[in-house]
Amino acid sequence: MENLLEKTIAEIVAEDISTASVFKKYQLDFCCGGGISIAKACEKHHINPTDLLNDLNSNQNKSDVPNLNFNEWELPFLIDYIVNVHHKYVTENLDIIDEFAQKVAKVHGDHSPEVIKIAELYQKLAADLAPHMIKEERILFPAIKAYLKDKNAVLPFGSIENPVNMMEHEHEVVGEYAKEIIALSNHFQTPEWACNTYKALYFKLNEFINDLFQHIHLENNILFKKVKAL
Ligand SMILES: [Fe+2]
Ligand SMILES: [Fe+2]
Repeated sequence: MENLLEKTIAEIVAEDISTASVFKKYQLDFCCGGGISIAKACEKHHINPTDLLNDLNSNQNKSDVPNLNFNEWELPFLIDYIVNVHHKYVTENLDIIDEFAQKVAKVHGDHSPEVIKIAELYQKLAADLAPHMIKEERILFPAIKAYLKDKNAVLPFGSIENPVNMMEHEHEVVGEYAKEIIALSNHFQTPEWACNTYKALYFKLNEFINDLFQHIHLENNILFKKVKAL
């Protein structure tokens, strides 16, 4: 832990680009001004070093996700998981990635025009995904839970298949934006000269789109499929 305090922000981000979002959370510059140690940065910006170190450590543990057997879960539990894991992840990361995308488009758009297109696509994706999740959380998911308890429950939209089909269509639209972003970024390969914000953008987009595909998979292939078969 003490060792980490003496490392510079830039060194830590260079070793593990996923830490960029932790520094972003504390509004610490990890890009051009990342040459100071964590200890000094915390002192300068009145940040509790223990909080920052805890966040860096829990960021490291994130990849140790157990292999979960979603297909065997009760549907209300699966719904709660989707909301608490995937919707929460989207809500927490949507704006951070937008900030990275806007900054990279502004600074590097002249000689990498694809980053401008990526920023635009990301904004379209975000503008669709946020209200989509609200519809699921406020209307569809409570209706599915009510329907599971009582097949004769009065639903606000007639058959349960109508909103399910609509959500599936919206998944296709955001999925297409995500695929275009993957192609434009050449599978998130940053150029040799990329700065830390550029690297952080591609790292976060990759993480975000992986999360999105898993999220859509759980809804389309498990939750909605089972609901349609009821
Ligand atoms: Fe969802
Ligand atoms: Fe969805």
